[in-house]
Amino acid sequence: MTEAIPAQISGQPVLILREGTSRSRGRDAQRSNIMAARIIADVIKSSFGPRGMDKMLVDTLGDVTITGDGAAILKEIDVEHPAAKMMVEVAKTTDDEVGDGTTSVVVLAGRLLEKAEELLDKNVHPTIIVDGYKQASDRALKILDDIAIKTSPTDREMLKKVAITSMASKLVRDNSDYLADLAVDAVLKVAEKDGEAYKVDIGNIEVEKKAGGSLVETKLIQGIAMEKEVVHPGMPKRVENAKIALLNCALEIEKTEFDAKINIESPDQMKTFLDEEERLMKDMADKIADVEANVVMCQKGIDDMVQHFLAKKNILAVRRVKESSMDKLAKATGGKVVTNLKDLTSKDLGKAKLVEERKLGEDEWIFVEGCVNPKALTMLVRGATEKIVDEAERSIHDALSVVRDVVRRPKVVAGGGAPEMEVASRLREWAESISGRIQLAALGFAEALEVMPIALAESAGMNPIDITVDLRARHEKGEKWAGVDVFNSKVTDMMKLEVYEPLAVKEQVVKSATEAASMILRIDDVIASSKEKTPAGPPKGPGAGGMGEEGPESEY
Ligand SMILES: Nc1ncnc2c1ncn2[C@@H]1O[C@H](COP(=O)(O)OP(=O)(O)OP(=O)(O)O)[C@@H](O)[C@H]1O
Ligand SMILES: [Mg+2]
Repeated sequence: MTEAIPAQISGQPVLILREGTSRSRGRDAQRSNIMAARIIADVIKSSFGPRGMDKMLVDTLGDVTITGDGAAILKEIDVEHPAAKMMVEVAKTTDDEVGDGTTSVVVLAGRLLEKAEELLDKNVHPTIIVDGYKQASDRALKILDDIAIKTSPTDREMLKKVAITSMASKLVRDNSDYLADLAVDAVLKVAEKDGEAYKVDIGNIEVEKKAGGSLVETKLIQGIAMEKEVVHPGMPKRVENAKIALLNCALEIEKTEFDAKINIESPDQMKTFLDEEERLMKDMADKIADVEANVVMCQKGIDDMVQHFLAKKNILAVRRVKESSMDKLAKATGGKVVTNLKDLTSKDLGKAKLVEERKLGEDEWIFVEGCVNPKALTMLVRGATEKIVDEAERSIHDALSVVRDVVRRPKVVAGGGAPEMEVASRLREWAESISGRIQLAALGFAEALEVMPIALAESAGMNPIDITVDLRARHEKGEKWAGVDVFNSKVTDMMKLEVYEPLAVKEQVVKSATEAASMILRIDDVIASSKEKTPAGPPKGPGAGGMGEEGPESEY
């Protein structure tokens, strides 16, 4: 259904939108939005679960990413359709909030829209569907909370199992036992008690990657590590009880912004000039030595001459440190980043037990260990190739996130589609009690949730219909953790398999998927400006002919 934007008032066309703007309304708009969102869900569905496949993505520069992580896949693909963009957005939000479940949320949102479309075809109004979904989603959250199991925030065994589940669907699954231990260690180290609960900021854990070696050489370092080297061979490579000057200014003679000419008329003048330059640079090194710093971390460059003077004073210096590393260093060592060398005082220095240059593979790395703030940690990820290290980094992010989720909110559910199936079964019972068309929406919501076990079963080559029938029957009988064991291709009790997941992730998936689907359903009008400015021409009234490439259905 479309309508001409230029309205006719007493024969005069009134142009409201810029020429070239396209508009689609009503069912047309809904259909195209739902289709776009479902296509996105279909794209990533095949990478869901431990038996899911990975995707190889090539960007415009030819860089290749291989991943099975929902958020990462969606980040790499360049989508154009606004509804598809919303699906990408919902995966990102889920990633930011809980760090895992990004594939689930998109797959579920896609399925909710598919069910909504069936209802729209039966002439159920979108508002009714949105209301029904909202009620069902609130109910689902309650059920999830009811069935979840309480655990202790410091129960290492449980935290490790949760981390292992999150990595089960990733390339690094063979080493998940080792990596899960590291993730639990890291998170527990940065966790802070806050009354009864715990606060965790995984931003304190810097993840650095270095291709080479193997995944089991991934290490947790108490402090900061960065791929840098000591600038001058005459400097020490190891400084104990380091006092670190953190500088955000170049240790060089400043170059003037304009071209200046100096006329030197005698060799004496030349010497004075050079001596003066040397003196200025020596002053810089002296200033650093005066405040008793024995390490310099400089965000900018360091002149050869300054390096020489610093080396003479036995000061270890590193140049062109990344801004993010400078911030981390400041936080870790309790130092302050100084922007003007003149302002540097001994109070600004950061402290660490050891600063050392070590070789990792072919390259030099600087390690800052035993920092004042024990919460500064670096996870140094190793792996055979760059692609493996990249994917390992993403998987470690998921593992750290799920462990954090449980430490913050110590409740877990089993995986393998069991909780979704249980919620669906209880939602159906509850839906009996509501009347009218909202009931249809609530039932649709319950059915949509079943997409989780179905997708897992499909990825393992199992028959989705048999599995659905089997799972439904078991949940009716009260087997609340019956789910899909994808490795042995059968329905089983997921608690017994010890596949645990944070309640927080399941909740976020339900909440965000419902919100995304509802938002898309509520749209009944899409007005899109044309990207290219159309040259001003005589106004075209209705009947003046089509002007977009999309044909008369969606132009204007
Ligand atoms: N051993 C297992 N057996 C059965 N299902 C499992 C097992 N391990 C994990 N799963 C299930 O796999 C699903 C998670 O898959 P996956 O990690 O690919 O998607 P996601 O967590 O939604 O998204 P992403 O990790 O990409 O952010 C969860 O439903 C989880 O219960
Ligand atoms: Mg996952």
